[in-house]
Amino acid sequence: MKSIAFFTNKGGVGKTTLTCNLAAYLSEVDRKKILLVDADPQTNATQYMFKDSVLKEIYDKKSAFTIYSMARPLSQGKGFSADNEFRNSTNFKVDVLLGDPRLALIEDTLASDWNSGGVRGVRTTYMFREFLTKCNEYDYVFFDMGPSLGSINRAVLIACDYFVLPLSMDIFSIRATENISTWLREWRRRLDLQLKGLPDASETEIDDLEFRLRLLGYVNQQYTAKRDATGERRAVKAYEKIMSQVPQAIEKTLIQDQLEPQGLEYLLGSIPNLHSLIPMSQNSRKPVFDLKAADGIVGAHFMKVKESFEIFEGIADKFNYNLGVLNDQVA
Ligand SMILES: Nc1ncnc2c1ncn2[C@@H]1O[C@H](COP(=O)(O)OP(=O)(O)OP(=O)(O)O)[C@@H](O)[C@H]1O
Ligand SMILES: [Mg+2]
Repeated sequence: MKSIAFFTNKGGVGKTTLTCNLAAYLSEVDRKKILLVDADPQTNATQYMFKDSVLKEIYDKKSAFTIYSMARPLSQGKGFSADNEFRNSTNFKVDVLLGDPRLALIEDTLASDWNSGGVRGVRTTYMFREFLTKCNEYDYVFFDMGPSLGSINRAVLIACDYFVLPLSMDIFSIRATENISTWLREWRRRLDLQLKGLPDASETEIDDLEFRLRLLGYVNQQYTAKRDATGERRAVKAYEKIMSQVPQAIEKTLIQDQLEPQGLEYLLGSIPNLHSLIPMSQNSRKPVFDLKAADGIVGAHFMKVKESFEIFEGIADKFNYNLGVLNDQVA
C-alpha cells in the first residue's frame, strides 16, 4: 500500500477534480484497489462521488461512519478507533472514507497537541499514519485535502509516503511551491525535536514514526489549450509563458531543496480547461472520461470525453512509473 496526498497551498486549482478522476482511472483501467480519504471539511470529494440521496442519508442522520468518526476518539484521548467503515462509490469504483464538515472541530486539538508535544502530541499528529496501518488491502490510499497549511493537512502530509502537487497556471501557484517547501522543512525539523524529546517513543504506541513524504510529481491545470497546426494540443500563449516557469520553480523549491533524486520526470501531465465536461461530470457523479450521451454528451463533446480519457491515461502511466522508481530507491 502506498499513501498519496494531493496537495497545494492554493485553493480552487482543481485538486478534488484531479484526485477523484485519477483514482477512478487507476481503479477502472489499471485495476488498482483504491481508498480515497476525503480529508477536507468542505467534503467536495464526497459530494462529487455520491448522489444527493446518498449524501442526504449520510449527513442528515449523522450516523454514517465518516472521517470525523475515525478522528474523534483520538482527539478525546480515547485512543485510535479500532475499525473503519468505507463506502463504495459505484461510478468512481473506489472506496471512500467519507468527508465530514465536523472534521474542522479537530483542527484546534491537533494544533494545540502539536505545540505541547509529548506522547499525546505525537499520537494525535500521527493520527492518519495510524489509520493507514489498517488500509493494507489497498494498492493506493489517496487523500483529498483543503488548501490550508493547517494542522489537519500537516497530519495528513506527515502520514503519507508521497504527495502530488496540482498547479493552476498562474503566478500564485508558483509562489505556493516555495511556501510548501519552507513549511515541509519546518515541520520536519519540529517533528524531529518532538521525537527526540520523548523519554520513551514506544509509549506513543506508533511503530512507524519516520517522516518520509516525497514529491511524486505535479500536474499543470486551469489553462486554456488549443490545437496547433500539427494537431497537437498546446496551452495558449499567455499560459505557456507561466507554464514554462514551472519546471524550474519546482526544481528549485521541491526537488533540489528536499534532496530529491535528479532525472525523474516530475511533470505527470497537464489538464486544460475541460469546460462543460466538468459540470456534466458533477451532475452525473461520474468521472469525466466515462461520460455518455445519457449524461448530456452530444456532438463534439464525444471527442472531448475521449481526449480527457487520454489525459488521465498519460497522468496515470507517469504516476505508476514514478511510484515504481521512487519506491525502488527507498528499497
Ligand atoms: N479541468 C477543469 N476544467 C474546467 N473546470 C475545472 C477543471 N478542474 C476543476 N474545475 C472547476 O474548478 C473549480 C475548482 O475545482 P476543485 O474543486 O477540483 O478545486 P480544488 O483545488 O479542490 O478546490 P479547494 O481548494 O476548494 O479544495 C470547480 O468549480 C471545478 O468544477
Ligand atoms: Mg478540493
